[in-house]
Parts: sequence; C-alpha cells; structure tokens
Amino acid sequence: MKILVVGGGGREHAIIMKLAESPRVDKLYCTPGNGGISKYAECFDVSATDIDGVVALAQKLNPDMVVVAPDDPLVLGMVDALQAKGFKTFGPKANAAIIEGSKVFSKELMKKYNIPTAGYEVFTDSDSAIEYLKKQNTYPAVIKADGLALGKGVILAQNETEAIKAVHEMIDEQKFGKSSARIVIEEYLTGPEVSVLSFTDGKTVVPMISSMDHKRALDGDEGLNTGGMGTVAPNPYYTDTIAKECMDTIFMPTIEAMNKEGRTFEGCLYFGLMLTPKGPKVIEYNCRFGDPETQVVLPMLETDLYEIFEAIYNHTLSDLHIKWKSGSCACVVMASGGYPLSYPKGLEISGLDDMGQVDGAIVYHAGTKLKDEKLVTNGGRVLGVTCTALTLAEALRKSYEAVDKISWENVHFRYDIGQRALKADVDPLNLDYKDDMEDYIESNGVYLRQ
Ligand code: AMP
Ligand code: GLY
Repeated sequence: MKILVVGGGGREHAIIMKLAESPRVDKLYCTPGNGGISKYAECFDVSATDIDGVVALAQKLNPDMVVVAPDDPLVLGMVDALQAKGFKTFGPKANAAIIEGSKVFSKELMKKYNIPTAGYEVFTDSDSAIEYLKKQNTYPAVIKADGLALGKGVILAQNETEAIKAVHEMIDEQKFGKSSARIVIEEYLTGPEVSVLSFTDGKTVVPMISSMDHKRALDGDEGLNTGGMGTVAPNPYYTDTIAKECMDTIFMPTIEAMNKEGRTFEGCLYFGLMLTPKGPKVIEYNCRFGDPETQVVLPMLETDLYEIFEAIYNHTLSDLHIKWKSGSCACVVMASGGYPLSYPKGLEISGLDDMGQVDGAIVYHAGTKLKDEKLVTNGGRVLGVTCTALTLAEALRKSYEAVDKISWENVHFRYDIGQRALKADVDPLNLDYKDDMEDYIESNGVYLRQ
C-alpha cells in the first residue's frame, strides 16, 4: 500500500511512524511534511490547505489512501474533493468537519441532542454581546470565535474590561476575519480537562487511550496559551466509570446526532472534555487527531493503524478489536525561545542522529527542516520528545533524559509536564487516589465520582 499523508507537524510525524510499522504499508508520502518526516516519507511542497494542489499530487502519485490530518483542509472539503476523484481517504467530509469548523454549529447540536456542555448564547453584534455580559456580570467569561482561529479563538476574560475588548476585537475589528463575525459567550466551567480521541466510521465509536494536554507556555500552567507544550497518556482523572458515562452521554449521542443531521462523521473525532462537579461536559470537538495528543496516544496503539483506517473507510470498525499497550506515554515539546509570540527560525539543532532521532526516545518533528543536510528549527513548536514506559514517572524520566541530549540556541520547554497527572497516577481503587482527588477538589472545586 502507498499512503499520502497531508500535513506537516508532530501529529503527522506520529501518524507516519505508526503507519510505517504496518506490514501492509510499503511507501509513505507526505505534503508538505518537515525535516524529520522526510526521513520516513517522501515529502512534497504542496501546502496542506491547497485542495487543488493536493488532488493533483494524489493524481500524480496514485496512493491507495490519502490521510488528511489538519483541521483547515478538512473544513475546506479536501476529503470531498479527493473522493470525487475516486481516492480512498481518511478524515471527515466538510459537512461533518463543521463540528470543529463552527462553534455555533457544535453548540446548537449539543443543545438539540442534550449532550452536556457549558450554557451559551450566540452574538453577531457587539452591542448585544456587551449588554449580555453586563447583565450576567460573572467572571471569568468565556468568549469564543465561531470559526477556526489557529487555536487562538478562545478568550477567558477575567473582568468586564477584558471581555468588552475581546468582543470588539472579534466582531468589530474582525481579528479572525469571518471566523469571528459570530461569537459564542459561554458559561465558565471548572475541573480537570481530558482529551479523548476516538475512531469512528459513523456507526461505531472506539475511544482511544485518554490524554492530558499542557496548553500554557510556562511551568505551573502560567504564561500564554500555546498549541500544547506536552502531553501524557492515559489521563489518570479519566477513570473507567467516567469513561462509561462519557460513552453513554457524550460519545454515542454525538455520533447519532451527526447521523440524524445527515452529517455522518468518519475519521478521528476528538472530544475535549472537562470533568466538572456536575459530570463530564464537552468543551470542544475537533474533527481530527489532536496535536500533541496524537504523539502520546499512537505509541500506545498495538493494532495496525492502516487496518483501522481501512475499516473506517469500509464501515467495518465494529469487526476490529483495537488493542492498547499497558503503561504510560509522555511527550515533552521543545519549542523556539519566544514561542508562542515571535521567535527565530533556522537555528541548527544538535543532539539528533541521522534519522532525526535520539537514543531511548521517539522524536516527533513539529517544526524542523533540512538545510544543507542539517536539521534546523522552522517553527514555534520544534520537537516532541516522547517515551513509553510501564509507569508515567518512568516515561517522564526517560523523556526528560532525552530532552537533555538535544539543544539549540534559546530552546524552551516546560519542566513540569505530567506533574499534575503524576499526583493522581495511582490505581483508581487505591485510597491515595481519592485523597488526591479530595485535595484537588478543595483547591480547584472539582468533583469526585465514586
Ligand atoms: P478550546 O480552543 O475550545 O479548546 O479552548 C481552549 C481552552 O480554553 C480549553 O482547553 C479550556 O482550558 C478553556 N476553556 C474553553 N471553554 C471553557 C469553558 N466553558 N470554561 C472554562 N474553560 C474553558
Ligand atoms: N492539543 C489540542 C488540539 O489539537 O486542538
């Protein structure tokens, strides 16, 4: 099998390295890819959002399957365009990708089908939005742009001044163009966050191992929001009881709701959840694998990823028994100094071998490129240094040991990835876990399920 993967970050590197393990896969292509991906797949320079360009590339390469990984091409209809030319694909069509492409759509879907989420109102003019904020007068207020906004479309305003500023920027100044012409103002929720990626063919939904992202730039969850500075899997707050509740109240109802709307979702549906005092609620849906969640989830997958993609395409997912490794996985993101604001590119990375790897870890490349045969930085998030082990503590120790071997000028990473998870990383039946949860509840106001 020959497979073309569309995208060029750490997530795509993880997908490619997993597909490379499949005995069914003998050739991998990627566009645009990056320096690290080019060691495992033949890369092309067609942008991931160039629908016509990717269709033309597919016609030239004639792959057995095209995997569309990022949100923008999915929302723009790349899967529809590829299928129209007869290609097998992995990823939802545009009419289902809207579950991520429009927050207003997803909130209305959840309201209509009673799927637990934060209460909300939709606004298209700033006067009504501000009037509503003043009437509510509760902070933090959560203000979200309707459409895709490079992960920057959510503002947690701490007071009225910040809230009004966000409303003006989004609606009047069109900070995110058409994406912020409509906004959602929603209730502020509290509790541990869990990412659950799932495989679905529109009939069956198979949740993957759960994970925990670390979105802030600095240790102790301080600093600016980023695309994700590290991840761990599984997420210890996501117990079997909570998983069952999510399947019954969130996962299956979402799949069924999309079917009823004539928008069957096929691909990877990502549930961003918050475990609130009133039970698990949906914070967001993504129509794709998460980044950097994929980097800790796929290394734990035992089943052949290509077989899963094929089963989804053939609507036979229920015939597969998807298996996971036991133990834990940790990914520490190494970023350019200055990220997520401005940062230099083109700095030479030292410590990596010829394959862009380092002993004892898997290094997923997010923003690298080859310059005169050398790997240099080419983005904000540069590498995701990842290890699996029997315990989370060991996975973290190994990841940080590998991080220590890699460097470039002004490299930045968090030292505390997994620390919060470690505190809860004990058997759910063990009393320590409860004690830990009780401490957590006292300081954060979250709840405990028996
Ligand atoms: P999103 O881009 O929708 O994932 O939102 C980014 C982050 O904002 C989430 O990971 C949460 O930490 C936070 N967030 C979003 N919605 C809410 C909410 N209703 N209440 C509290 N925090 C939220
Ligand atoms: N890590 C969050 C996302 O992929 O949207």
